[in-house]
Amino acid sequence: MNAALGDQALNRSIVLVGLMGSGKSAIGRRLAARIGMKFVDADAEIEAAAGLSINDIFEVHGEEAFRDGERRVIARLLSEPPHVLATGGGAFIDADTRASIKAYAYSVWLRADFDVLLRRVSRRDNRPLLKVENKEEALRQLIEERYPIYEEADIIVQSQDGPHEETVSDVIAALRRFAAGDAGDEDSDRSPDLAT
Ligand code: S3P
Repeated sequence: MNAALGDQALNRSIVLVGLMGSGKSAIGRRLAARIGMKFVDADAEIEAAAGLSINDIFEVHGEEAFRDGERRVIARLLSEPPHVLATGGGAFIDADTRASIKAYAYSVWLRADFDVLLRRVSRRDNRPLLKVENKEEALRQLIEERYPIYEEADIIVQSQDGPHEETVSDVIAALRRFAAGDAGDEDSDRSPDLAT
């Protein structure tokens, strides 16, 4: 029994999707701790499998090779026991990866305001797709291309600009509602209080 989510939700992994800077890893790590599941970061797994940083994979082998690796690594992770999985921003955009996530996991789109995204991604220079002169423009374009696809996620949660724990609580509440709806019994005892 999972005190935060109820049994239903534990059948599947919880996969966080969304743009760079939306807080997938930070929220995912805290979410996993709160609901007592393992946390896995897909980008870290890709780096470990390749023996290279994301930057180097893009630089040496190109984006297509990165997407191939990403597809394979996420398919493997989805076959493992349920956990919380933070994915890179492009993972859910890949049709095969999206289909696997939809088939085997609960998908949660962490949606953040443009200003929040821009501020967060401007802090570090570790993202190959944003190593461009005009980060703002690149981010706007990604929003335009990707938001209609992220919208296909099972659950959409606004990534708050405040303490991460607030967003984590919102994700837990949304997951409970979704899992209860999935099971067809919204008022079930199996979805106990949200005391975590
Ligand atoms: C990417 C996002 C990155 C990383 C890679 C490509 C993308 O992950 O996977 O640089 O296509 O949006 P984060 O979203 O964790 O920064």
